[in-house]
Amino acid sequence: MPAKTVNDIVALCKRRGFIFTGSEIYGGLGGAYDYGPYGVELMKNIRAAWWNAMIYSRNDIEGLDAAVITNRLLWKYSGHESSFSDPLVECKKCGARMRQDKMRDQTKCDNCGSTDLTPPRAYQLMMGLSIGATADGAINAYLRPETATTTYTNFKNVMDARPHKLPFGIAQIGKAFRNEISPRGFVFRMREFEQAEMQYFVNPADDEKYFEMWKEIRMAWWVNVLGIPAEKLRFTPHEKLAHYAKAAGDIEYEFPDGFDEVEGIHNRQDFDLGSHTKAQDEFNIQANVMDNRDSTTKLAYSDPQTGESFIPFVIETAMGVNRAMLAVMLDAYTEEDLGDGKSRVVLKLKPALAPVKAAVIPLARNVPELVNIANDIENDLRKLHIGRIEMENSGNIGKNYRRHDEIGTPVCITVDHQTIEDHTVTLRYRDSMQQERVAIADVPARVMEIINKNEK
Ligand code: GAP
Repeated sequence: MPAKTVNDIVALCKRRGFIFTGSEIYGGLGGAYDYGPYGVELMKNIRAAWWNAMIYSRNDIEGLDAAVITNRLLWKYSGHESSFSDPLVECKKCGARMRQDKMRDQTKCDNCGSTDLTPPRAYQLMMGLSIGATADGAINAYLRPETATTTYTNFKNVMDARPHKLPFGIAQIGKAFRNEISPRGFVFRMREFEQAEMQYFVNPADDEKYFEMWKEIRMAWWVNVLGIPAEKLRFTPHEKLAHYAKAAGDIEYEFPDGFDEVEGIHNRQDFDLGSHTKAQDEFNIQANVMDNRDSTTKLAYSDPQTGESFIPFVIETAMGVNRAMLAVMLDAYTEEDLGDGKSRVVLKLKPALAPVKAAVIPLARNVPELVNIANDIENDLRKLHIGRIEMENSGNIGKNYRRHDEIGTPVCITVDHQTIEDHTVTLRYRDSMQQERVAIADVPARVMEIINKNEK
């Protein structure tokens, strides 16, 4: 049985050390979460899978890691300062603050049902900062609300360092901050979160072709790499396009309470490079951009064949890493009835994503021979550099198997008294619960096979 509600995952995340409430011992802070020992591993593995697909498996995308603290002019010219807001409605009776477009009924308070509501007002989502010794409290910088804009402003830096012909991309993974009115759905909507975004720069004549191409590539990645069944994903085109977009849509995952966005795919035309470029008049910019007198750099592309200089279009793929992890965990979460009133929870993760790749369990902690053999196996597995390997300290084999089922460890290796006699150990597989006896010498190769096969 899969997860029925997000709450199934919330409890597991806390109990097993995936995700904790941010600032928990002081009562928490809405929209901020801390990632524990296994959460950091799962996030790292999702990031690595994305980076592998974007950078290491292709020759046309470069990486970038830009600053989180940014000059406010970036957000003036991107349009965020004037229009990155949500409609905020307040209830005059109970004081609840709500995002109007997400209310159950726009005429009634979600909290107390009162109809005595304020008219909606634009609520700025960016987190402003006052930085530097001369700061007087006025906002002179922002925490970035997306990674994309810092990619556009680095377009020329990257092109100068690593020249490319169109089409080519720049990929970035990093934190983003939004002062969401109502964070919700555990890590679904947060105030501090992480994005994995790729901006693909194309000749304007080719934009539709590459928009379709990236839709397909990204959908396939969710299925093949994250292991989400295709029927739990769909692509929903935006009904109302943002002013800069020519086409846009979301990859949606079927969460327990319905389909919702996990990644956006956008044809942003020449809006971004056109907004931030110097000498806008020299280019035939098609999107409606703000007049820019502050930029110091031309963000254009010179066609090596024609010598023509123009502003490329951008096809963007924008994934939320925390949302990807939430979807992966919800999808992997399985409650199994084992008969005789017994059951287990197992996280059927792809081995490449699993926080712990293998656990070594000596059956008795007080038998030095068993512990020494287990230590040797652990050390041999560490040399494979496949990720986290765990040694279990308690000899309660049943409890150990349950714990590793719940955190998604693909295989446990048990060292018992027979090991001393015949140099074999028990390999116990997470999903099938089957066990087989394997020679110690063959364990590293067997574990590698499981990880590389990467089947759920
Ligand atoms: N550069 C385009 C952009 O930022 P977006 O749709 O606002 O587009 C992209 O964000 C992705 O980032 C979303 O599909 C979602 O997965 C994630 N995301 C956005 N806001 C979020 C939030 N408050 N908490 C968690 N993830 C968020």
